[in-house]
Amino acid sequence: SHISAFDYVVFGGTGDLAMRKLLPALFHRELDGQLPPEGRVIAAARGAMSDDAYRALVWEALSRHVGDRLTDDAWTAFARRLSYAQVDARMDARSGEGWEALGATLDQRPDHVRVFYLATAPDLFGPISQRLHDLGAITPRSRVVLEKPLGHDLASARRINDEVGRVFTESQIFRIDHYLGKETVQNLLALRFANALFEPLWSSAWIDHVQITVAETVGVENRGGYYDGSGALRDMVQNHLLQLLCLVAMAPPATLDRDAVRDEKLKILRALAPIENADVETLTVRGQYRAGAIDGQPVPGYLSEPLVAADSATETFVALKTEIRDWRWAGVPFYLRSGKRLGAKVSEIVIAFKPIPHSIFPVGGGAVAPNRLVVRLQPDEHIRLHLMTKEPGPGGMRLREAALNLSFAETFKSRFPDAYERLLMDVVRGNPTLFMRRDEVEAAWSWAEPILNAWARDPRRPHPYTAGTWGPSAAIALIERDGRTWIDDH
Ligand code: BG6
Repeated sequence: SHISAFDYVVFGGTGDLAMRKLLPALFHRELDGQLPPEGRVIAAARGAMSDDAYRALVWEALSRHVGDRLTDDAWTAFARRLSYAQVDARMDARSGEGWEALGATLDQRPDHVRVFYLATAPDLFGPISQRLHDLGAITPRSRVVLEKPLGHDLASARRINDEVGRVFTESQIFRIDHYLGKETVQNLLALRFANALFEPLWSSAWIDHVQITVAETVGVENRGGYYDGSGALRDMVQNHLLQLLCLVAMAPPATLDRDAVRDEKLKILRALAPIENADVETLTVRGQYRAGAIDGQPVPGYLSEPLVAADSATETFVALKTEIRDWRWAGVPFYLRSGKRLGAKVSEIVIAFKPIPHSIFPVGGGAVAPNRLVVRLQPDEHIRLHLMTKEPGPGGMRLREAALNLSFAETFKSRFPDAYERLLMDVVRGNPTLFMRRDEVEAAWSWAEPILNAWARDPRRPHPYTAGTWGPSAAIALIERDGRTWIDDH
């Protein structure tokens, strides 16, 4: 759909996220001819840099992250949009000069949609918003995007929401969770609500349990400074995994409207069984990777990573069991796990159905395995329905499991846009459906906080696991205690 003329102001414009995700995403939109000719991209950061130096930096990032789609023509068109603004948002920063210059640049195009994308540390979200307000830069057509992490606990999230909310209205605030921009994550809505098949089965009547796995092979890379103060629960579970859980569990919204969808997700977050005090011990497992190997290459342990404290107790893996206390889901465990330096990069949701109530088949003809619906979010995106079938042959009734497999690569022979491409354009369009509302973020923190508090009080260290494995054995025990196992559909 049509994209209005815009000014994208990226704070943290020289940072890791900007270079790896945001600028490449905008560039792909350029390649697909979606950016209006007047659209501008203004990077804002603390250091001194010329526009040309910034362009050189972006060129370098694109050549690493865009691959063979990077053409001279598209680059020429894109480079023309780029400029750099030197600003300092810290409270004690003396000079306001950079801000004046940024204000003047924006004033050249008073009618543009203005997007202020805050890809900085969250403690700067309030101060930057205030500066923009003082500058008179916030027009009715302005919006602000808040990158994660949105605070590090409930109190800090509230404070940030208050500070930003002082100068932007809630409808101008876009809290990003890039998982919601992934094609396969949006497809959960299509799968559940564009098909009549699943909804009648979608409850404790037919579902035994749900597993959500987001596994990575990367370590903390160069992000130790951020990650060591955060950990896997804050970095992945409080946001990405809980959002996936919401999309799996929510009741059908009446429309695809921004608030209809978010109201239903919020109900799930509020119905999550709290994990507190003694329950933290039985329902959660935290781990930390030791040296090991990924794809046959030796990798260091977490404690030897740059910018990580030598005695850090930060978790790089978490597994937990939770439940949704409502009529649909009571009694159905949701097992979640996520970690760095695991055996494979794979994100997957498994809906495990209940066993058949009674078997008519001869014992010895093969066990009747319960059905499983597997939604592979990445890589090798697919939806697989595991069914029991009769093994062909004259020898009688022998059963075998087989799968209906919907592979996205085979079905849609088109390129999969990165999550940020969709979300960055949604901001310009003013469509917040795939962004988190304030109450959602705060409900997610309310649930996560008692776990974080119990871990902080616990003198024991996270369970060690060897890089390249599937996490500590305690995570396997967590689910096997219930007579179930983690399912790896690969
Ligand atoms: C980010 C986390 O939000 O998500 C990172 O901060 C993590 O630690 C990343 O690596 C994973 O995203 P994706 O899209 O690669 O699954």
